[in-house]
Amino acid sequence: MSDAERNFLSDNVVPMADEVLAALAQANRDSVHSYGEDPYTERCTAALSTLFETEVVCLPVATGTAANAIALAAMTPPYGAIYCHDRAHIVTDECGAPEFYSGGAKLIGVTARDGKLRPEQLREPIELARESGVHHVLPASLSLTQATEWGTVYTPDEIRALADFAHQHGLRVHVDGARLANAIAHLGCSPAEATWRAGVDALSFGVTKNGGMAAEAVVFFDPRLAQDAALRRKRSGHLWSKGRFLAAQLLACVSDGLWLRLARHANAMATRLATGLAQLPDLHLVQRVEANEIFAHMPDALIHALRSEGFEFYLWPTPPGEAAPVVRLVTSYRTTPAAVDALIAAAQRHLRAGS
Ligand SMILES: Cc1ncc(COP(=O)(O)O)c(C=O)c1O
Repeated sequence: MSDAERNFLSDNVVPMADEVLAALAQANRDSVHSYGEDPYTERCTAALSTLFETEVVCLPVATGTAANAIALAAMTPPYGAIYCHDRAHIVTDECGAPEFYSGGAKLIGVTARDGKLRPEQLREPIELARESGVHHVLPASLSLTQATEWGTVYTPDEIRALADFAHQHGLRVHVDGARLANAIAHLGCSPAEATWRAGVDALSFGVTKNGGMAAEAVVFFDPRLAQDAALRRKRSGHLWSKGRFLAAQLLACVSDGLWLRLARHANAMATRLATGLAQLPDLHLVQRVEANEIFAHMPDALIHALRSEGFEFYLWPTPPGEAAPVVRLVTSYRTTPAAVDALIAAAQRHLRAGS
């Protein structure tokens, strides 16, 4: 078993899919226009419009942070509030990019044990803001993560309920879809049903974790929101002159359903790992496993023993009401059944030996 196979740290540790590398090589043959005026970018917008069954505005960028920050800045004034989960990537892992790009908007985190917000949780903070008038930031946006940071998945009905509530209160709805593929693979619905048909206004559509090298698309379902987004992308240094290489990755991923094939595999490996771990004593899953991430409480000694055998995974903040320590294990399109079984067997062996 190679070191790479023992790596359950993240789905962005893996190489790009062969299909993406081939697409980059293909895009590397000729000279084409720059700054997104190339045929790859044009085809990418057409492909995403087909995928989402509606005409979208699509702005490719290289990171999820840029996608989230550009999308949120497009829908949030500097004096606006962005409601989101309190452990959302935009809160914990983006170094204040949404606040920076929007010129000062405020992220307001809401706690939800399984990563999924509920409409009634938004009522109080929005009412508080309305009552406070000019003294409080203006409720402007709701940002959901799909699949969530806790590896769970919103159903289209849950998104619709949140989006309806948000729209009734004058908010726009953004989805951080760094793992949208894993969510759609789990739901088995169309990408349209889980996004704009459920009320989503803008989406960060990521492929980096699912076969891409580095590509995300800011997808606007409401073209009015996209008006100044191209300027924001340029101003923030995220308009690539050789934009074709971003578009080529996105195109390769959505062509022939590659993104869903890869995500289905990653999810299946997570289910296999979760099923194996759930049988073991002294260890339990702390979240439902619906996508490609597993969160489990593990005894310290077992964590140490697995790490000393070369298995890599992160310790994770413990959710409310859970016993520490909690670990996160992530599977990807590259995870093999043999690697999953080896991890389960090693855990079994160490637990039996009293690690
Ligand atoms: C939920 C979520 N959103 C966005 C991202 C994208 O982050 P980056 O800016 O590192 O591409 C990640 C990556 O870890 C993520 O987990």
